[in-house]
Amino acid sequence: MRHLLSAGDLNRADAVRILDTAEELLGVASRPIKKLPTLRGRTVVNLFFEDSTRTRISFEAAAKRLSADVINFSAKGSSVSKGESLKDTALTLQAMGADAVIVRHQHSGAPHRLAHMQWTNGAVINAGDGTHEHPTQALLDAFTMRRHLAAEGDDGLEGKNVTIVGDVLHSRVARSNALLLHTLGAKVTLVAPPTLLPVGVESWPVETSYDLDASLEKADAVMMLRVQAERMNASYFPSAREYSRRYGLDTARMKRLPDHAIVMHPGPMNRGMEITADVADHVRSVIVEQVTNGVAVRMAVLYLLVGGAPADDTSDPAEGTA
Ligand code: NCD
Repeated sequence: MRHLLSAGDLNRADAVRILDTAEELLGVASRPIKKLPTLRGRTVVNLFFEDSTRTRISFEAAAKRLSADVINFSAKGSSVSKGESLKDTALTLQAMGADAVIVRHQHSGAPHRLAHMQWTNGAVINAGDGTHEHPTQALLDAFTMRRHLAAEGDDGLEGKNVTIVGDVLHSRVARSNALLLHTLGAKVTLVAPPTLLPVGVESWPVETSYDLDASLEKADAVMMLRVQAERMNASYFPSAREYSRRYGLDTARMKRLPDHAIVMHPGPMNRGMEITADVADHVRSVIVEQVTNGVAVRMAVLYLLVGGAPADDTSDPAEGTA
């Protein structure tokens, strides 16, 4: 694997290898010195054309913990606002010798273009493209689920029921999760009002439902999605109140979940819209843990793509200190 563009590009062995590597790297965060020498002398560029809090700082923390040199590029305040194209921006970064380019872009397909047109020699990692995909988010979500739910001896999520709720139409997180969870053996149910399910969802490896209450009863994990008002150019539901009443998660509705089930959200949350504040802060909510796990998963992706680990390498990536 040279790039990470889509969760659909990962077969089960690739996905499990990333999750297992992340498991080894998770411990680095609790060491007094949170740094490994693995990517010393390598350059990682964070190329962000769209706003981001946790994904950008998560990739930055991951690259720094592996001792890479990190260049942060955000479109605001750069020559992109003077009309510079993605191609010219990429060529400029290439001239600086980027070993990995982490790209978030408002247009679906931008990371694929960067990789396939060979505007950079570095590994391209998709950090969210338009409404298309966000593979590292799906990996950190699967990692979090596996830690809580996987049966003894199962390296995937065989037979687990995952319910993904809300604005699927605009969600790159939902698509990447559906693909990866299917690869790992989980059963995915998408719950949304009909207006917020994308055309063509029939071809996804999922079931769909309009009834949240019924879907919660069998869920091992429920993932609430943000209502992406900034991408909405029409009214997709009558009112915020109506949406929360039918598709929001509150403590009364949470009682329908099995006792072992976990509550997830990729963030940023609209508290009071798709999730109430008391559910977001509930003991069964793993939302903050998802953020912590995100750093380990991104370290694993960088290590496997840029660290030059040969395919049969069995050495421990968490060995040694900087
Ligand atoms: C998501 C994103 O940007 O795709 N957030 C994230 O990466 N943690 C989801 C969202 O914006 O709602």
